[in-house]
Amino acid sequence: MASSPFIIVAIDGGAASGKSSSSRTLSERFHLLHVDTGSFYRAVTAELLRRAIPAGDLEAVRRALAEITFGTRVQGRSAQMEIGGRVAGEEIRSREVNGHVSHFAAIPEVRTALLAYQRGQADVARAQQFRGLVMEGRDIGSVIFPDADFRFFLHADPEERARRRANEGQQDSIAERDRLDSSRKTAPLACPAGAVSIDSTHLDLPAVVDVMGKLIAAKLAP
Ligand code: CDP
Repeated sequence: MASSPFIIVAIDGGAASGKSSSSRTLSERFHLLHVDTGSFYRAVTAELLRRAIPAGDLEAVRRALAEITFGTRVQGRSAQMEIGGRVAGEEIRSREVNGHVSHFAAIPEVRTALLAYQRGQADVARAQQFRGLVMEGRDIGSVIFPDADFRFFLHADPEERARRRANEGQQDSIAERDRLDSSRKTAPLACPAGAVSIDSTHLDLPAVVDVMGKLIAAKLAP
């Protein structure tokens, strides 16, 4: 009997565009490892802030990256980044991290340090017998897995996204992060050619997941 194919689903999009909710639902539906790469950039940011390193001090950032050891812990269906053997807590959603993460994420050395780590999540998923992985971020379909089986790009009106983030009880300047993420030189946020673009402004979560899930199920059907 042929074993079912290992599938990679890439979901990119701006802040509060619905990536996390749809990724989580797809991971349950298709037994995929859920990898939130934003949480990786947030964990690295929290660690650099803990070391009192400003994003402008490239030498200090480089030195810290050379020292930091990354690991992965799978909790439920979700891949958590370990830094020095520890999984970061809720501090990665703090106002401070919200305000700094896009500055660190724009540094090419930071992105390079995370590139192989992110691709290695496919090995983690295979080792843990997942059917594949769903990875969300800003450059998954363009840089990390350009050959992914499915590449989705989520977007929504800025007002709607700001409303969603406020409903989550978070103070987050998503417009500023989007501006920084879209204008950086390395791996800017953009819909990659060939990706399926979904406007979620007037779609609820089940409707978004329905579009994605139908495409995935069609490919997985025998
Ligand atoms: O949840 P939200 O969409 O607001 O943000 P996130 O996915 O947690 O990502 C936080 C920040 O990490 C983004 O604003 C980007 O600056 C950075 N990021 C990135 O540069 N590349 C990725 N693949 C994922 C996140």
